[in-house]
Amino acid sequence: MLLDLLKSLARNIRRKPQRAGDELPIERLTRLKAAHERAPVAAHLDIVYGDLRVDGRALNALLAECVEGSDVEIPPLKAFHRPLASYFLARYFVHALGVEGARAECGVFQGTSALFLCRAAQSRLPGYDGTGLHLIDSFEGLSRPGEEDQFLTRATPDGPATRRSLSQGYLAAPLERAQSALRDFPGARFHRGWIPGVFATLPQTRWSFVHLDLDLYAPTLASLEYFHPRLAHGGVIVCDDYGAETFPGARRAWDRYCALHDVSYVVLDTGQSVILKA
Ligand SMILES: C[S@@+](CC[C@H](N)C(=O)[O-])C[C@H]1O[C@@H](n2cnc3c(N)ncnc32)[C@H](O)[C@@H]1O
Repeated sequence: MLLDLLKSLARNIRRKPQRAGDELPIERLTRLKAAHERAPVAAHLDIVYGDLRVDGRALNALLAECVEGSDVEIPPLKAFHRPLASYFLARYFVHALGVEGARAECGVFQGTSALFLCRAAQSRLPGYDGTGLHLIDSFEGLSRPGEEDQFLTRATPDGPATRRSLSQGYLAAPLERAQSALRDFPGARFHRGWIPGVFATLPQTRWSFVHLDLDLYAPTLASLEYFHPRLAHGGVIVCDDYGAETFPGARRAWDRYCALHDVSYVVLDTGQSVILKA
């Protein structure tokens, strides 16, 4: 569905060239997707990230291992975002290893980011087996998007401007696939179910690290409401989706929660937003 939308927008862009400043986010992404697909992405990656290491492991190689180990592909459009976002995420995770409390990821999909975190932790602590890491997902894809998840598309000769969102069920992947990706980390616990109901299966504890990667407003807000009051001093909450232009719900949830509770945070150049509890 999203692919059809991107294709029809691409056709429209070809018909009506316009100034870059006039582009809607989805039009910009379509243009960049085409540009990246034609570029020597692997050579760029080697130049920009070739020397970057995560606790002694080469970033590019570590990410490639986790991508392969979780059976996903990184599209050329995300080729530069994903390594840097993974690097920042792993830095916060390794920081949190020194803070008392459990660790969680909300939005696991096939386990790529969870595997990256575990491998990074293993580089720091060779005996690390995932103990204390809780992996939470419906494993049935996205819940139903709401109004806050909608983004605007442009009017075309075929129809008026509309509001669109990601589809319910998008990114469904079986629990077994993530379990297989994390098989070297038997201490990690999986929690299958819908947020927020699934939180009832979590231990009553303090949390030192939480990764939110849910794409949508309602589960992101519910996760902040659950985890932030339970966050340990020195603990972090990282939201992958704050800067995502075509699914604005996570940013709206984050902004709402932080404004309501007067919470301070930063936004990294990758678009990840981060709370570090003083
Ligand atoms: C973008 S994917 C996560 C990607 C993963 N962190 C990675 O980097 O490999 C988003 C995930 O959020 C899950 N999800 C979305 N809404 C949910 C909800 N209300 N409850 C539980 N899981 C949900 C989906 O099933 C999907 O696996």
